[in-house]
Amino acid sequence: MKAVILAGGEATRLRPLSCNTAKLMVPVLNHPLLENLINYLKRNDITDIIIALGQQVEQIQGYFGDGSKYGVRIVYSVEHFPMGTAGAVKNAERLLGEPFMVFNGDIFTDIDLTAMMDLHCQKKACVSIALTPVEDPTIYGVVETDAGNRVKLFVEKPSRDEVTTNMINAGIYILEPEILNYIPPKVFFTFERNVFPAALERGQAIYGYPSEAYWIDIGTPEKYLRLNHDLLQRYVGNKRVKFEGESAVHPQAQIEGAAIIGDGCFIGKNSIIRGPAVIGSGCQIEEGAIVEGAVLWQNCKVGKGAKLKNCVVASNCYIGEESEVLDGCVLGDNVRIERGNKLSQGIRIWPDKSIEPDAISF
Ligand code: GTP
Repeated sequence: MKAVILAGGEATRLRPLSCNTAKLMVPVLNHPLLENLINYLKRNDITDIIIALGQQVEQIQGYFGDGSKYGVRIVYSVEHFPMGTAGAVKNAERLLGEPFMVFNGDIFTDIDLTAMMDLHCQKKACVSIALTPVEDPTIYGVVETDAGNRVKLFVEKPSRDEVTTNMINAGIYILEPEILNYIPPKVFFTFERNVFPAALERGQAIYGYPSEAYWIDIGTPEKYLRLNHDLLQRYVGNKRVKFEGESAVHPQAQIEGAAIIGDGCFIGKNSIIRGPAVIGSGCQIEEGAIVEGAVLWQNCKVGKGAKLKNCVVASNCYIGEESEVLDGCVLGDNVRIERGNKLSQGIRIWPDKSIEPDAISF
């Protein structure tokens, strides 16, 4: 079965992390998110992949090429304007034929695709949608089903009193080719708001495949940080520290897992790295600095006595001596926080900005 990966969204909510980096190239445990998705498809015997995208084409194509490095075949379908989730698939129609799968590219999941395909065949469905439970369905597309898993209703971002289920559309579909007839060519069109409700109204067999398996999308920096924390626990384990290459670690530095240290890092005297933490390649953590619960991309420098806690710092940033970047703060690429600043409460700093010494205490 072929799979279309949707990779052409604007990723506005993930800014500033997505200002220079395509959403699907954002590193998760130091590897692009899309690499995880491709490996997941491969594990599920899906090796014919179409990546639908519009911007930052070179970043993705340059990294994944024809997919042979991953044991899959990748072709690219490029949009000249944002076409929406369904418009993007229509744009790739010439590459499809048989029943096919569609994936929102910004998800990380273990949902069992074989079981989902079995249900699709057994029910003779026209559309199957993976469903996942969430705590707060009001920010998602909710899908109501009957006892036999047939979809009764779609509600996009329901208000609190409209919520009747916490099962949401997980952004994984199995589609029969006839569903493409519901999508007009060359216009912006989405599955969630346009195609599925229209197909339901016309009585098409639309089924949900409910799954309790791990699922998250990296729509926002908060969820991005949570995914890194979850995976550190899962792959690295509670107190383990994984070095991805050669790094210089001072004997009086203290590193507590779960943590990943990329290649070519310098970890200075009396510095503390406390997991869950991801340090990208080429980072320098200077004397007495503390990094806890944070994700750092490549080539960041954390000055003497600086403190990073539960934050995300993109590539090539500088955190000056005695500065603090705390809970939920997000720094874009090439940001300079000069000495003595204290950033907290989710402040986001856009790429290439410099904060003067002692300018922020919030
Ligand atoms: P926000 O701007 O923050 O809402 O993010 P987004 O643009 O990524 O939108 P959303 O989270 O709804 O997208 C879900 C998935 O569909 C992501 O993997 C997007 O890359 C993808 N996607 C959204 N719109 C398009 C589109 O117009 N074309 C393609 N090819 N993919 C899209």
